Amino acid sequence: MAVLNPSRYMELLPIEVRSALTKVIELLNESFTGIWMPDKLLRATYHYIKNRGKLIRPTLTLLMAYALGNGGGLERALLPAASVELVHIASLLQDDIMDEQKIRRGVETPYSLFGPHTAMLASDLIIAKAVEFAVKSGDNDIVFELLNSSVKLAIGQSLETELSGKGSVTLDDYLRLIYYKTAALIESAMIVGAYSVNVKDQDTISEIRNIGRLVGLAFQIRDDLIDYLNIDSKNPGVDHDEINIVRILSRRDNNIENAIYMAKGLLNEMLDNAVKAVKNIVNNSTIADYINLLRI
Ligand code: IPE
Ligand code: MG
Repeated sequence: MAVLNPSRYMELLPIEVRSALTKVIELLNESFTGIWMPDKLLRATYHYIKNRGKLIRPTLTLLMAYALGNGGGLERALLPAASVELVHIASLLQDDIMDEQKIRRGVETPYSLFGPHTAMLASDLIIAKAVEFAVKSGDNDIVFELLNSSVKLAIGQSLETELSGKGSVTLDDYLRLIYYKTAALIESAMIVGAYSVNVKDQDTISEIRNIGRLVGLAFQIRDDLIDYLNIDSKNPGVDHDEINIVRILSRRDNNIENAIYMAKGLLNEMLDNAVKAVKNIVNNSTIADYINLLRI
């Protein structure tokens, strides 16, 4: 998984966005207050709320609302931002089960601590709560957007299983896979930020979709590159069967150096295009600065 100092992501956020993010964290912390459940399920449900990640998706929601709402409108983006993070957390619980992953974010996973059944049920509860938060935003477009990306996440996970058994994953297969499993939710995170401040015109929305898709694809390529470089230095010579862009690009000529170079080029080109497109829709530079943190 991509490890980046979370404070670097926070530092460049405007004070209003940072304080909105604190409110999103409060919403997440309180999301299951008053609901009784068995202790194991409760602990699995709160696991990734307590062990926070980088909060990239809700941050993108807030940044988009902030930029398009000219500094206002952040209050209305809180529930959508919390909903986006819950959809992400549900997908992490599922991904841990499918990958039989014991450690994430530096701690033991709910899958490992409580078993796959409890982790699966926690993921189920969290998706239900994500829908509740989206409905409470009062905007059906936000609800549909997030439901749609939940569907894509499941398709992405399933596609990954299909492709993992296949020796010859092409770059097109890979790009389709990472769109579904990663980029679709990042795209939705930005879209619901725009919806929060009532930006709905089709030209702007399709521009934001394009930006979100590019950022999401770049984000997964970055994650793959970091994974590959870390794994490789820790375990040189080990054969990994995980789907990773470096392995896909190196298959033809076995040239790892060149594959890493090409993957970095693709990542940075996507970010260049995303940043250019951002400048067409907002004057505020924070979204572009934030996106630029993903460069390698
Ligand atoms: C991890 O996402 C899964 C991927 C889609 C690469 P993040 O890197 O955003 O995970 P956290 O939330 O910060 O832990
Ligand atoms: Mg996985």
